[in-house]
Amino acid sequence: MTSNETGTHGAVLEDTPPEKDRPLVELRGAGKSYGNIRALHGVDLKVFPNQVTCVLGDNGAGKSTLIKIVSGLHQHTEGEFLVDGEPVRFSTPREALDKGIATVYQDLAVVPLMPVWRNFFLGSEMTKGPWPVRRLDIEKMKKTADEELRNMGIVLDDMEQPIGTLSGGQRQCVAIARAVYFGARVLILDEPTAALGVKQSGVVLKYIAAAREKGLGVIFITHNPHHAYMVGDHFSVLRLGTMELSASRSEVSLEELTNHMAGGTELASLKHELSQVRGVDVEELPEAGDLTAPVATSSEGKS
Ligand SMILES: Nc1ncnc2c1ncn2[C@@H]1O[C@H](COP(=O)(O)OP(=O)(O)O)[C@@H](O)[C@H]1O
Ligand SMILES: [Mg+2]
Repeated sequence: MTSNETGTHGAVLEDTPPEKDRPLVELRGAGKSYGNIRALHGVDLKVFPNQVTCVLGDNGAGKSTLIKIVSGLHQHTEGEFLVDGEPVRFSTPREALDKGIATVYQDLAVVPLMPVWRNFFLGSEMTKGPWPVRRLDIEKMKKTADEELRNMGIVLDDMEQPIGTLSGGQRQCVAIARAVYFGARVLILDEPTAALGVKQSGVVLKYIAAAREKGLGVIFITHNPHHAYMVGDHFSVLRLGTMELSASRSEVSLEELTNHMAGGTELASLKHELSQVRGVDVEELPEAGDLTAPVATSSEGKS
């Protein structure tokens, strides 16, 4: 369905034709200990091109540890980590980036007062003219940033606008567009919707889907099963450092996923404990499935 006239991206991705059956990134029985704290153990994960792989889990489950291994920030201490089928061990995030693995962190490394275009090219500026009179090619950078953002469906009125004036969701989107432009094959997003409201989360989810349509393998970290289920092709749930569930979309329903996340039995015992505290009406408490539902904005339904 996708046409061949999608511009520059196609060229970037054509250099490395995605082999449908080979994962871009794979963990086999991988684990990580910090001293004698075992944060991650026996984890299997496969990330394919053209797919969104969701990694879910409560706080402390090991999500960040997992992506730090893949993004080159930490090294695994057990098992195997493969990129394009080759075992690897990265010493720095730069090595991961060189393999096309880009990470967008929740607290984005942007310079708030710098214009959007400047942030887009930060650290990889375009220049023109021969040495020693080489200078920044500002016009080209502005034009390219604008084009690339539009390519992802992000239309900004003014490329000179300081990035700090964009909403959190828009900033996440700029970071995603940037990773796509610089040739990422694997895009890791660490809780990109955690600090966002419903509407902005929707915008970010849209660009996660757009990145997948461009052929990337996306690793989407979240603790919100609803967000995961809206865009996910595969779901891996971590609990206390081990993979509790690994299922494709056809194998798991949103209800099941939500239950895994909320920890159905734990919730029941919590309810029982609360029932012994005066003043808490347990009948009014939500069911397991409702607990992690996105919080509705307060503007509606106030009649
Ligand atoms: N640098 C570290 N040193 C020691 N323990 C750590 C470190 N980073 C994480 N941990 C521990 O590893 C476990 C998993 O943490 P983390 O990967 O951050 O989980 P998540 O991102 O799912 O909240 C936690 O028990 C945490 O305390
Ligand atoms: Mg984390």
